[in-house]
Amino acid sequence: KTCIGVLTAGGDSPGLNAAIRAIGKTAIGKGWNVIGFRDGFLGMLEDRWVELKKEDLANILTVGGTVLGTSRLKPHRMETPKGPVDVRDKLVATYKRHKLTALVCIGGGGTHKNALKLAEKGLNIVTLPKTIDNDVAHTDSTIGFATALEIATDAIDRLHSTAHSHHRIILAEIMGHRAGWLAMGAGLAGGADVILVPEIPYDVNKIAAAIKRRVARGTKFSIVAVAEGARSIEDTRAYEAARQAGKSATNAAQKRIAKTVIAKLDADHEDNIFRLARQLNTLTGLDSRVSILGYIQRGGTPSHRDRLLGTRLGATCVEMIADGKFGIMVGVDGDRITTTPISKVAGNLKTLPPDHPLIRSARHLGTNLGD
Ligand code: F6P
Repeated sequence: KTCIGVLTAGGDSPGLNAAIRAIGKTAIGKGWNVIGFRDGFLGMLEDRWVELKKEDLANILTVGGTVLGTSRLKPHRMETPKGPVDVRDKLVATYKRHKLTALVCIGGGGTHKNALKLAEKGLNIVTLPKTIDNDVAHTDSTIGFATALEIATDAIDRLHSTAHSHHRIILAEIMGHRAGWLAMGAGLAGGADVILVPEIPYDVNKIAAAIKRRVARGTKFSIVAVAEGARSIEDTRAYEAARQAGKSATNAAQKRIAKTVIAKLDADHEDNIFRLARQLNTLTGLDSRVSILGYIQRGGTPSHRDRLLGTRLGATCVEMIADGKFGIMVGVDGDRITTTPISKVAGNLKTLPPDHPLIRSARHLGTNLGD
């Protein structure tokens, strides 16, 4: 009897259970067995799994998170106190022990790298894209993005009335450490006055000038939507210099120094939004507050769009397995379902292009993008 495995890896997102349910129901409908590994690749390493029967798939469609659990374990580079270790052979053994026909890995950028490394060991893998950041290449949407967009938009709406009442600047930190899809989408949908994304290094003086122009027009509040990964021009330069130094390092000591500098810049960046709030307060004289939306953006019931996306991708990936098509990610291009080799997806980040309609619209509307 055909048996397939499924796991969810990386940060959770709403709609994962819709995908698990669709995979399970479609596969069971074909008379197959389905097992779910607990906590991503970690469960596969430790052979912790559960058989997914029809009754296990009931009542999970509307539930947030993942019923299987997740982790960020990298099988080809598992962190141990003695340094990174390659444990892929143990996962291959689990795959063989269960006589799997294929493994479905649902995840984001990191999961695609892991899946590719596992596929190199001969496993039949199909992946589905999920992340609230929407930064997976070769798919228009990822499972969880639409729901997170709703949540972040609602948060910006709510921040408007309080910023307005107190004549304050409120900076809302929105998830997205490498791409600004969520901050740009929610910022535009929520009518933020300033939107800062990782793709566009910002100049704090230009942001302050835009806020002051609003004050001069009689509007004494401003909403600034800040993606986690947004950086000032100065910080971006410092990063690039450290990265270049790392690349052109000719010995281990130089490499170590570059790594330390990057780690220090990363640590400083944690405080980025608070630093920006202080700078804007000094430059504009307006009271500034920070609101970090954080994990609220990843939780709760999935929107209809994520339920439908998870359902379509889940059902299609079982069709692919039935057709013997492996080593691919099932994604979407508009309304069309697409398949792309995992090798093209892994390590390929989808960022906001500078001429993207969202960015162009923001500029037409006079939204300040920090540049
Ligand atoms: O990858 C999705 C994401 O939500 C990022 O935007 C965020 O930086 C990261 O996950 C944080 O995840 P965790 O704290 O769970 O590792």
